[in-house]
Amino acid sequence: MNALKRIIQKHGGKLTLIFLTIGFIYYLYGVNPKYQGYAPDQPIPFSHKIHAGEVGIDCRFCHYSVEKSEHAGVPDLNTCMKCHSQIAGDSPDIQFLRKSFEAGIPIRWNKVHDLPDHAHFSHKAHIARGFDCQTCHGPIEDMDKVEVASEFNMGWCVNCHRQYTEEEKPAGNNNAIGITTCGTCHY
Ligand code: HEC
Ligand code: HEC
Ligand code: HEC
Ligand code: HEC
Ligand code: HEC
Repeated sequence: MNALKRIIQKHGGKLTLIFLTIGFIYYLYGVNPKYQGYAPDQPIPFSHKIHAGEVGIDCRFCHYSVEKSEHAGVPDLNTCMKCHSQIAGDSPDIQFLRKSFEAGIPIRWNKVHDLPDHAHFSHKAHIARGFDCQTCHGPIEDMDKVEVASEFNMGWCVNCHRQYTEEEKPAGNNNAIGITTCGTCHY
């Protein structure tokens, strides 16, 4: 005990610095990912397994801004009503949907993915680059409830960027150069 006390008295400041540094790196690179598996309940149980899987509706039919903007967006009730003004009217959830539509009250979907404001992500750039939704979101078409399928932390972003920078820089792709610098995502 005494020996420990002496070490702390002598090197306390240094030790604190070391622990803080380790903690910071650990946090940044998400050794213990805090987002993977997050799957909040929704106001009504909307199932991607039914819509994107069994019925086979294209992701872009509902997330129609995904190729054009930073945000994929979540569809409003107009999109739902294209089908549900006719389909499944016996279901209490669909009756709730129709009542909300008639009253002009949007459904408040809970966000599943939500990066902090200081980190910028653009769907447009990644979709144009040829990535499938599933690369980052996993097999959404099998999910009754959406869950965060990847780590969704900085280490996850940077690892993929590093891989592409290394693969594509020798080929002279100017877009690949620089996507690992801090300013790509933080501005
Ligand atoms: C019929 C419309 C519809 C289709 C088709 C659809 N989605 Fe969705 N999607 C929604 C709705 C509504 C939500 C919000 C409710 C929820 O999270 O389940 C949502 C949520 C999501 C989320 C989570 C959003 C957040 O809050 O982070 C992702 C990711 C997603 N969809 C991806 C996809 C992918 C990938 C496909 C194709 C395989 C797809 N969706 C097909 C309607 C649709
Ligand atoms: C392209 C057509 C289409 C669109 C658009 C669509 N759905 Fe559906 N939905 C279906 C079909 C088909 C079923 C399966 C119906 C069945 O099993 O009887 C279904 C089933 C459902 C169910 C389950 C109903 C039950 O049986 O209890 C819910 C809830 C639902 N949809 C919500 C939504 C919401 C919310 C939206 C908009 C974000 C939406 N749907 C958009 C076609 C669609
Ligand atoms: C390179 C990885 C990547 C790919 C590919 C990708 N997404 Fe995303 N998606 C993300 C990230 C990161 C977020 C969180 C963005 C935020 O919080 O600002 C997100 C969020 C979402 C959301 C929540 C609403 C929003 O716009 O923030 C939806 C819906 C979604 N994605 C659908 C899709 C669909 C549909 C596709 C395929 C057409 C797709 N994503 C492809 C990484 C990706
Ligand atoms: C699966 C691989 C992959 C993942 C995961 C990924 N990216 Fe990318 N990202 C790329 C590639 C490749 C490019 C270069 C696109 C091009 O050629 O223009 C890129 C480009 C970008 C750009 C520059 C876009 C522009 O407008 O030029 C930003 C910003 C970005 N990514 C942010 C992120 C963030 C934030 C995350 C994590 C939430 C992330 N990325 C996850 C592969 C990925
Ligand atoms: C490819 C995109 C990308 C690049 C490049 C990147 N970051 Fe990040 N960074 C992120 C994302 C996404 C988050 C949010 C992660 C989370 O919440 O887990 C983040 C989080 C952070 C945080 C934590 C802030 C907080 O409290 O949420 C700091 C600090 C940070 N980044 C600094 C840097 C520095 C310094 C660099 C350059 C060496 C850098 N980042 C490069 C995407 C990136």
